[in-house]
Amino acid sequence: MNYYIGIDLGTSSCKGILVDRSGKIYKELSVSYPVMTPRDGWTEQDPALWLDAAKKIIKELSSGVERDVRALSVGGQMHGLVALDKDDRVIRPCILWNDGRCEKQTAYLNDVVGKERLSELTGNIAFAGFTAPKLLWMYEEEPENFKKIEKIMLPKDYLAYCLTGVHSTDYSDASGMLLVDVKNKRWSREMCEICHVKKEWLPRLYESYEVTGKVRPEFGLPDCLVTAGAGDNAAAAVGTGTVKDGSCNVSLGTSGTIFVSQDRFSVDGANALHSFAHANGKWHLMGCILTAASARKWWIEDVTGWGDYAADETAKNTESDVIFLPYLSGERSPHNDVRARGAFVGLSSTTTGREMSRAIMEGVAFALKDCLEVAKSNGVSPSETTLCGGGAKSGVWRQIIADVLEIPVNILATEQGPALGGAILAMVGAGEYRDVAEASGAIAKIASTVTPVKENFPYYEKKYEKFRRLYPAIKGALRDL
Ligand code: XUL
Repeated sequence: MNYYIGIDLGTSSCKGILVDRSGKIYKELSVSYPVMTPRDGWTEQDPALWLDAAKKIIKELSSGVERDVRALSVGGQMHGLVALDKDDRVIRPCILWNDGRCEKQTAYLNDVVGKERLSELTGNIAFAGFTAPKLLWMYEEEPENFKKIEKIMLPKDYLAYCLTGVHSTDYSDASGMLLVDVKNKRWSREMCEICHVKKEWLPRLYESYEVTGKVRPEFGLPDCLVTAGAGDNAAAAVGTGTVKDGSCNVSLGTSGTIFVSQDRFSVDGANALHSFAHANGKWHLMGCILTAASARKWWIEDVTGWGDYAADETAKNTESDVIFLPYLSGERSPHNDVRARGAFVGLSSTTTGREMSRAIMEGVAFALKDCLEVAKSNGVSPSETTLCGGGAKSGVWRQIIADVLEIPVNILATEQGPALGGAILAMVGAGEYRDVAEASGAIAKIASTVTPVKENFPYYEKKYEKFRRLYPAIKGALRDL
């Protein structure tokens, strides 16, 4: 029997699955690790933790079938900067996708280089979480570290480099560096010059399903191929069957994303959404909010200490006037504001904790609707979506997403979006399927559909209008905090 391993290198944990060509999961394992916050708004992680987690996962999943694992692939958290020195040592902890330190460098790129020029060169504008502003930050703030750089790479590519010894990346993940001409699928020489990046530091670009190398003998998987893999959202799209033109996937992980697959490269008018390459060889539009399931985790575990997600589902019928702005880590799409912060608005002496809990789920759904509205104003209007990520386990949240976005929400047989996507990319690389569309179509299975409830639309439409007015109203005050 041929087995495949898919790995999701997430922000709070690394997850792995062992599957066969039908996508049947034989084993799964998740290993958690912390995010470091050396300052308010900064987020970092030690790449050694990812490697330790991945080693554990590979060992455990392949135990007893080491010789039968044909290929593996990783879908990973995007945009993080891993820089290696001449001896391949990590120079400093990885600066993550939701780090807010690069406000000045982002403004330089958008205002001095100019959004129009950036868009011409890359198809995108700068967001603080992207890799290019991080490189400028390191150049300005840590010149000693910057001088040591010999290789740069994204989180999943660091893992793949340790596994194979090949310095590779794929188009979907590399799109988020702001160093790639996404439309023409090549490094942008001009962007690299602007960011002081030398050509020799860059990995080779591959399609996500292309084989980059083999797992090194010390990992105990003889002859196991590795494909380039993808950014976690593109991998999740593959794992949820979001590969046809116009199809949509919403992910409720640490971040929240709305991802629309596109056969042609396109940008929205204001570049508010990301125009990135897809793991199927084509492209996608994506809105990314920085806080999604992480807001619920913050509330249920850290703030209230309830710790019980199942009990929180009783928040189901608690409609209220309370509105939550989910900007706990600033916001990416569409506001692009590292200084945005979360807020509860409309509290009264009778407000209950459960109402606030419900407001959190609604606030995340509204923030995703903000992104969907941008897509719609550019003629991209999905008629249904799949849903994946940890938040997709909540029945209440699924219904809220369906009612707020006003489209049916398809739930997959497995919510392991990025890991399953990784496994599918590995299968295509190993020749099990002709292409990503065939593999994803055969493997991603819809288990149920949540139908939007029309009677609920007026409540959410009114509430969304109020939600939309709040961020512009308090933006100035948030900047002064
Ligand atoms: C996408 C993004 C996040 C991370 C989370 O642009 O920054 O979704 O990939 O892992």
